[in-house]
Amino acid sequence: MSSDFEKRYIDARHKLIENDFASLNPMQRKAVMATEGPLLILAGAGSGKTTVLINRIANLLRYGIAGDTNELPANASEEDIEIMLSGGDEARRIAALDPVEPWRILAITFTNKAADELKARLERMLGPEAADIWASTFHSACVRILRRDAERLGFPTSFTIYDTSDSLSLVKRILKDFELDDKRYPPRMLLGEISRAKDAQLSPEQFYAKAKAMGDIRKAKIAEIYAEYSHRAFAAGAMDFDDLIYYTVKLLEEHDDVCEYWQRRFRYV
Ligand SMILES: Nc1ncnc2c1ncn2[C@@H]1O[C@H](COP(=O)(O)OP(=O)(O)O)[C@@H](O)[C@H]1O
Ligand SMILES: [Mg+2]
Repeated sequence: MSSDFEKRYIDARHKLIENDFASLNPMQRKAVMATEGPLLILAGAGSGKTTVLINRIANLLRYGIAGDTNELPANASEEDIEIMLSGGDEARRIAALDPVEPWRILAITFTNKAADELKARLERMLGPEAADIWASTFHSACVRILRRDAERLGFPTSFTIYDTSDSLSLVKRILKDFELDDKRYPPRMLLGEISRAKDAQLSPEQFYAKAKAMGDIRKAKIAEIYAEYSHRAFAAGAMDFDDLIYYTVKLLEEHDDVCEYWQRRFRYV
């Protein structure tokens, strides 16, 4: 049971923070105030989801967990309540509880367009502080993670990234060297198979074992092409788009120290 003082302190703090997000609707505000634990928002296009995400980040930077806890700072005083009720910068400073450093926040979206929009809107709302927030696509976040530690997987940290046409020419070269008919093994189909295997986090060996177990000779041949594709890309110090995800997962799964580094770095994803 909290005391009258605690209750008044928390009410004043909540009011102050909510006031900062007065332009949002009540459901948006509720989502912005919820800083701890997972949160799922389902809403249609243009309904204000990105707005919520940006304001949640602003709340974390400004107030930390203050909007989502009944915890009081050790030195909480009657005077603090007065100041918080009257608002202003001093009030904000008092209300903040463990504010988050921008580089501890990771915001991920699917497309480059959405990531660019997110970055631009964060900058508009937060100013230069926004530059330290990781706001990116899955793929570009993976590139940054791999640039630090790709050597742990045997790649140079300066690995190159194959685009779709690079991948296609590599597959075509392999078909030629293997003397396989590209009517029977269309390069785009092969890339699709290889891509699906990587999505399922299947190594060439695992993909081959699966094909063998099913007695699927054609799949086994595709697995061999996948193995050669991976081998040559690796030898060239290159990753394709799917590799960026595949190797990041592998890096984090197989190297506990790397995994712990990123777990310690990001407080909010
Ligand atoms: N509570 C609100 N009141 C007024 N305008 C809002 C509110 N929430 C969002 N908007 C505006 O609506 C538009 C779409 O919001 P956005 O967050 O980009 O939607 P979503 O990400 O869900 O597609 C933006 O111009 C945004 O500024
Ligand atoms: Mg959006």
